Amino acid sequence: MKPIGPLMWEHRLIEKMLAAMMRHIDHLEKSKNVNPLIIDIAVDFIRIYADRTHHGKEEEILFRDLAKKDLTPELKKIMQELLDEHVWGRKTTASLVAAKAKYMEGDREELSRIVDFARQLGNFYPKHIEKEDKHFFYPCQEYFDKDEQNRMLAEFWEFDRKMIHEKYNKVFEEYSKLSF
Ligand SMILES: [Fe+2]
Ligand SMILES: [Fe+2]
Repeated sequence: MKPIGPLMWEHRLIEKMLAAMMRHIDHLEKSKNVNPLIIDIAVDFIRIYADRTHHGKEEEILFRDLAKKDLTPELKKIMQELLDEHVWGRKTTASLVAAKAKYMEGDREELSRIVDFARQLGNFYPKHIEKEDKHFFYPCQEYFDKDEQNRMLAEFWEFDRKMIHEKYNKVFEEYSKLSF
């Protein structure tokens, strides 16, 4: 298997999850009522799966190794755009979390900001994914020989293996600080 295989499977789940979030956001906008779970579950997915686990493998393994290769100016440009888009995704997710927190404190005007940030994320991910799937991953893998590809795949699995532990260590840290 090629290393871009697992990245592309992950893209399919990210697309499905964000499409489901968009349907929930349409409903939330009509009902004028925010069920916090709609936001919390989507934010957890975006932060832990789409960003930490998926973008983590892209940035910390694939892009790291590509940076050592003599890429075409076009691919270099796309890689920088992808990195910038990851940063934009993190900022927009933080804005969504902040808007939801204010709404939960009683500021009903935040509903429209919640809808707006969630839709920005729901519109962004499919475009970002398409750029990687159609214009980046295939030409990139040509820079790696079979051994390099196998090593990268092994590093991906090891990266994934650590994620569940990282996630639940973080859950413990947040949970232990809660006070009611
Ligand atoms: Fe990406
Ligand atoms: Fe990706």
